[in-house]
Amino acid sequence: MRNIGPIVLLGSPGAGKGTQAKRISARYGIPQISTGDLLRENIQFGTKLGAQTKDAMARGELVSDNLVCDMVQERLHQPDCQRGFILDGFPRTPAQAGWLDAFLEHKFFENSHAGGTPPIVILINVDYNQLLRRLTGRRTCVANGHIYNVYLQPPRVDEVCDLDGSKLVIRNDDREEVIRERLTAYEQQTWPVAQYYRSTGRLVEVDGGLPADQVTEQILEEIERRGAVTADGH
Ligand code: AP5
Repeated sequence: MRNIGPIVLLGSPGAGKGTQAKRISARYGIPQISTGDLLRENIQFGTKLGAQTKDAMARGELVSDNLVCDMVQERLHQPDCQRGFILDGFPRTPAQAGWLDAFLEHKFFENSHAGGTPPIVILINVDYNQLLRRLTGRRTCVANGHIYNVYLQPPRVDEVCDLDGSKLVIRNDDREEVIRERLTAYEQQTWPVAQYYRSTGRLVEVDGGLPADQVTEQILEEIERRGAVTADGH
């Protein structure tokens, strides 16, 4: 099995991070770590973290750096991350990016086979009008998390998952007024993260406005080209 190392997916709400993370995960057999999904699970199961983050998420604001970094740290220590992982929606503030750099350098790789591989950071660019259409049209399978879009990637039968016939649901924060807040949070707090990675020469940008298959092609090409994928032990 090849070692992959860390992959960071950056992009505005609706850019396609979740869609692409699932494809990269299937391609390389490494886990997708979506901080949004982890937070939603905590809310769904009524955990303490869920109670602490629920209101901020409902308003479309970012939750506090400390809570998110602790959650990510716990997840990255799971054995399935040893060959690599895809961070979807993290880091999202300069503080989170600094935390990740320190974590990867000092802690994570001590016992990992993926020792010393720097993260490949991929920014998925999509224009504003397309983002709105994607977010207002998104539907997600309640059972397996597969993502559809009523305008762009509709299921064969309305509101029903093609894969297992489960119901499709609208995400709580995909209402128009919350979408606006999320896009503002991205511009103000996450855009500087992209600038940070650009300044360190680690940022790869892809055109996320293309059909999903073509976006995947660009991403896989970049991952292979940038050498994030290495043969085990070499
Ligand atoms: P999170 O769950 O991360 O949401 P997000 O960043 O707003 O991103 P989305 O999931 O909305 O979009 P996506 O880029 O994954 O797009 P998708 O693939 O679904 O975060 C939610 C909240 O959690 C935040 O607001 C915050 O409160 C909190 N949070 C999470 N992480 C945090 C952190 N690190 N720090 C602090 N707070 C945090 O695609 C969207 C739609 O477009 C779908 O319908 C899809 O079918 C369609 N689509 C995708 N690609 C294409 C394509 N190429 N062509 C046509 N349609 C496409």
